[in-house]
Amino acid sequence: MNGAPPTYRRYESDPAPLLAALAVAVGAFVSAPALLLGIALAPLARRARLEFAMLSVVGAACVALGSGRISLEMRRAQRAGERAGMLLHPDQAIAVAWPHVLAWWVLASPLCFAVALAIVVLRRRSIEELRERDERRADRARERAERRARRAAGARERPALERVFELGQHVSHDRVLPVKRGRVLMPLARLARTLLVIGAPGAGKTVTLGRLAYGVATASDWQVVVIDAKGDQATQDAFAASMRRAGRSVRLFPQEPYDAWRGSAREITNRLTQLIDWADEGGGAYYRDLSMNLVRLACTAPDGPPRSSAELLARIDKTGLLILWAGRAEAMEIERFRDEHIDACRQRYRSFFDATAGQLDGGWALEDADCAYLLLNELLYAEETTKVARLLIQDFKPYLASRNPERRQVLLIVDEFSAIADGERMARMVEVVRAYGAAVVVLAPQAFQGMGGEEASARILNAAHTIILHAVPDPDPIIKAAGTRMATEWSLQHERGISTDVGSTRTQHQMRVDPNEVRRLPAGMCFVIGNGKGQKVQIAAAPRAPEEATPSERSPAPPAPADRDDRADTDDEPIRL
Ligand SMILES: Nc1ncnc2c1ncn2[C@@H]1O[C@H](COP(=O)(O)OP(=O)(O)OP(=O)(O)O)[C@@H](O)[C@H]1O
Ligand SMILES: [Mg+2]
Repeated sequence: MNGAPPTYRRYESDPAPLLAALAVAVGAFVSAPALLLGIALAPLARRARLEFAMLSVVGAACVALGSGRISLEMRRAQRAGERAGMLLHPDQAIAVAWPHVLAWWVLASPLCFAVALAIVVLRRRSIEELRERDERRADRARERAERRARRAAGARERPALERVFELGQHVSHDRVLPVKRGRVLMPLARLARTLLVIGAPGAGKTVTLGRLAYGVATASDWQVVVIDAKGDQATQDAFAASMRRAGRSVRLFPQEPYDAWRGSAREITNRLTQLIDWADEGGGAYYRDLSMNLVRLACTAPDGPPRSSAELLARIDKTGLLILWAGRAEAMEIERFRDEHIDACRQRYRSFFDATAGQLDGGWALEDADCAYLLLNELLYAEETTKVARLLIQDFKPYLASRNPERRQVLLIVDEFSAIADGERMARMVEVVRAYGAAVVVLAPQAFQGMGGEEASARILNAAHTIILHAVPDPDPIIKAAGTRMATEWSLQHERGISTDVGSTRTQHQMRVDPNEVRRLPAGMCFVIGNGKGQKVQIAAAPRAPEEATPSERSPAPPAPADRDDRADTDDEPIRL
C-alpha cells in the first residue's frame, strides 16, 4: 500500500529538541555528574522505561531530602567565591568554591535517572521509530479487542501463569515469544502444535533441539523422545547429560536394545509390513501382497503375535504356520503358498533382523522410558537404517493410542527426518500424532525442499505453529509465514547536491524477515516465526553436567518417573511468566 507521502521539516511544530537542550542546561548546572551519568544511561533507559521511571522518582526523592544540604553547599560556594574575589581572582575563587560545588553535584547525582529518562522521552524519534511505535500501539489495541471479544463469547482466557522455559536471548525484530530481561521464553503451550526447526548443515539445528528437550525436561514432566537419524554419538551423550542434569532418567538406543514386539497382533503386523519397501507395481505388487498376507498370518495366529524376531522368522514357514493355524480355515490358504514365496519373504525379514543384531529384541519400549534417545547409526545398520527408523516411528502411533494410558504428554523430536522418512510419511505421522493430542512433534529438516515434495512440505508447514529458522540458502518459502510489515522509505530533497532539509516518506509492504538476513545468520542464531511475525533469537545451548561420565560408557538407570520430585538442583529452575 502506498500512502500519500507525508512531508516534514526540521523543528516544525516540534518543541522536543528545545526542551531537551533546556533539560541538559539545567542538568549541567544542577549536577554535571548527574548529567554525564544520565547521558551514559540513556540507552539503558530506552529499553527499561518503567524501571527508570521508578528510579527517577526514588532519585528525585533522595535529592529532595538532601535539598537543604544542597542549597547550603551552593551558598557556601557562592560566599567562598565572593571572599576570594570572584572577578579579580577567578582561579582562587574556583579553587575555594570547588569542594562545595563538588559536594552539591554529588548530592544531586541521583537525578541521573531522571536525566536519562528526559533524554529518551524528549529525544526526536526517527520516522521508522514512530512507525514502530504506532505498530506496537495498533498491536496492543488489536489484542485488547480480541481479548474483549473472546471474553464476550465465553471463550476461556489464557491462564495467567504460563509454564515457560528459556530458549535464548532476544536479538531484534518482533516479539513472537515473550521476552523477560532480554531472555526469550518458550511457553509449553506453544509446543502444543508441531514445531519445525529448519537450517542448513552446521546452522545449529541440533543445538536448538537440545535446548528444547532440556527446557521441556526442566519445565514439565513430559516424556522426551528423540529419534536421531544422523546418528551422532556426541549428541546422544550431550542429550543424556542434560536430561540427567534436569533430574530425568534416560534410555539410550542402541546401547539398550529396544523391544519392538509390544502391542496387539494388528499393531505388530502394521509395524512389520511398513518395514520393507515392496515395489508397488507389476509383479512387485503381487509379491508384496503375498508377503503381507504371510506376515499377517504369522502375527495374528490364535496363539498371539510373535514376541521376538526369532519367533517371527520361525513362523514365516509353511510347517510352522500350519501348526499355528491347525484346524482353521486359514490352513487351506497356507497350503496354497508356494515354498519359494515363503522363503523369499523370510529372507527379507531375516536380512533386516540380522543387520539389527538383536537390538530390536530388547527389554524396553517407549512406555518404560522417562526420556529416550534413539540413535540410528548408519555405520551400524547400513542400508537398513531407514527401516529401523520407520519401525520406531511406526511404534510411536500405537504407543500413543493404547500404551500410554495416563495420556502422558510426549515431546517427540525427529532430527534430520528427511534422511529416514519421506515427507508424505512424515506429514501423515504428524497429522495422526496430533489427533491423539498427547504428543508434540518437533521436526528438523535441512531445508524446505528436504521435507519431501511440495504437497508434503505444505502439509508439514501448515501443521507447524512455530518455525525456528536457522541460516538456509533459500529462505523465501519459509519467511512468507512471518508475513509483511509496513516499512518506511524516505527521500531527502536537494538543491544542486546541497540538502534542503526537506524530505518525504512513503510506506509500503516489506517482508518482516529479510531473506538476506536469514542467509547471513551465524550458527546458533535464528528467526522464530509464528503468528505472522518473526523474532531474531540467539539460542542458548543446553547445559551439560560436567561431572557425568559419558553416558554411552555406562548403562543408564531404569526410568523412574515417580522419582522426578527429587530431581537434581539445577541453575535453570522452571520459569513462570
Ligand atoms: N546456540 C548455539 N550456541 C553456541 N554454539 C552453537 C549454537 N548452535 C550451534 N552452535 C555451533 O555450531 C555447531 C553446529 O551446530 P549443530 O550441530 O547444531 O548444527 P546442525 O544444523 O545440526 O548441523 P547438521 O545439519 O550438520 O547436523 C555446533 O557444534 C556449535 O559449535
Ligand atoms: Mg544436526
